[in-house]
Parts: sequence; C-alpha cells; structure tokens
Amino acid sequence: MKNLEKPFLSRDEIDGFELETRRKYSGETAIGYSADTVSKRPVAGSCDYFNRLLEIRLNLAREHARGARVLDVGCATGAHLFELAPVLQSGVGIDFSFPLIKRALENRTSEGHERVEFVEGNARTLPFRGGTFDFVFSFSALYYMPNVEEVVWEIARVLTTGGHCLVEMGNSCSLNAMVADAYPELARSFHLTVSRMKLVLLRAGLKIIGHRAFQILPFWGERPRSLEFLLKPFWKRWLEKRVGGRMIDEWVSGLPLVQNAAFRHIFDCIKQ
Ligand SMILES: C[S@@+](CC[C@H](N)C(=O)[O-])C[C@H]1O[C@@H](n2cnc3c(N)ncnc32)[C@H](O)[C@@H]1O
Repeated sequence: MKNLEKPFLSRDEIDGFELETRRKYSGETAIGYSADTVSKRPVAGSCDYFNRLLEIRLNLAREHARGARVLDVGCATGAHLFELAPVLQSGVGIDFSFPLIKRALENRTSEGHERVEFVEGNARTLPFRGGTFDFVFSFSALYYMPNVEEVVWEIARVLTTGGHCLVEMGNSCSLNAMVADAYPELARSFHLTVSRMKLVLLRAGLKIIGHRAFQILPFWGERPRSLEFLLKPFWKRWLEKRVGGRMIDEWVSGLPLVQNAAFRHIFDCIKQ
C-alpha cells in the first residue's frame, strides 16, 4: 500500500470524474475534444503565447530526453513525443482516450517514428515495471487527474533512480482556475496550491531541481464576467512579448509571492 495521505475524494468519486474526463477526451460528449486539435505541434516563428510556452516545454524536455528511455503521461495524439523522437533512445506515450491513442499510432506510422510507442492506459496505474524510464514528463494533463498524488507516485515508481521528470501542475489560487471553473462543459480540473504541489513531489521521493511559473493571467475564455477586463486579448499580446530571453509573463509569474498566484508550474525533478 502506498504511503498516501487521506484522500479528499472517495474511490467512487475518482472513478466517476475519470470516466467523465475520458468520455470528453474520447469525443463521446457534446463538446468532446477533437484528435485534430487537442495537442499542438510548435509553429516555427510564431509569437503566440501558447506556442512560445510549448517551445519552452519542448526545450526543457529535450535536455533530458537525449539518449533516454522516455515516457509521456497524458500524451493525447503524441505531439510532444514526435518532436522529441530524433533525440531519444525510445519513447512511450500513455493516455486513457482510445481515439487519441489510435490517432497517435496512425501518426507514428505515417511519420515513421519507430522508436516511439503508444499505449492506452490510466496514469493512475502505469502498466510498466519500476525503474523502466530515465525521463518521464507530463504536460497539461496532471490537472485533469482527480488524484494527482497517486499519479505522481506512479511517475516516481517507473523512473530509474537518478532519472528526471518534468511535471506541469495547475494552481488552485489563480485567475485561470476561476476561468476553468466557469467552463463546466470542459474537462473538470483538479488544481493544487503551489505549496501542495511541492509537498506531493517531495513525498513521492522527487527532489525539485528546477521550477518555472507561467500564466499570471488566464489568456483565454470570456467567463466569469467579473474577470472581463483581465480576459481582454490585449493582456496576452503584451505579456507574451520577450524581454531578456523570457516572456514578460514568466518574469512576472516568477516573482516571489506573485508566483503563488501564477497558474502553470513546471517542476524539473530527480528521483532520489
Ligand atoms: C489537455 S490534454 C494534454 C495532451 C498533451 N500532453 C499536450 O500537452 O498537448 C490532457 C490529456 O490527458 C489525458 N488524461 C487525463 N486523465 C488521464 C488519466 N487518468 N490517464 C491517462 N490519460 C489521462 C487526456 O485523455 C488528454 O489526452
């Protein structure tokens, strides 16, 4: 039995939330996500905030993926693994949406990435032996998982000792969390405070060696009305500008105290 603290949700609740999310990501609901758009590849030269964020993630991942056995948790259609394919030793993507994994496998065949594999499965019970991977990453996925503690334990378990993971988590004390809550038709989010994110990682035996924060404003959505002014596209256009090699958003989001209100936190960790 894993050393989990008392869960906030019952097993039945976790199963129910996961089923709801899986159905949305499998196109089984009215607003189902589409395999064509769920996961993006970077667009060279684009100044768009989310494209720049994607390039930052991929650059961070590339450092650890070189020559490594790599796992992508919540891989969707495999966009990130395909970008890393030229440098890694072998790659596996796991996602619990069958249509997304099917598309990933089709793309693998058409793009000829033989070192990359895709598996349909739940991040809560990763179907791999302990110590299988040198590098595990999970982008934009952990905050859709109702029991992130358990998933982080799984990530730590399948990592080899001394291996790295890059995990992205969403902050419950952020404006973006308010916007996400105003869109119940989208996949339900399970955000944590920043101090809790760190605790979850440390308890799983992961030492944090890098931490970057982003998205001080949501940069998407039109709800709730109370945030109308801060949701204007003007903010994104301004904060996505680069100064000294970083987006203004990252400079602001990384300031002490302000960091606790930024939404997106990327942790670079080592398994001890
Ligand atoms: C927003 S998408 C992110 C996809 C990709 N990582 C990216 O950044 O483009 C979230 C993905 O997490 C997957 N997911 C959510 N909960 C999961 C779980 N418990 N096990 C496996 N996959 C899960 C969803 O099916 C979806 O493909």
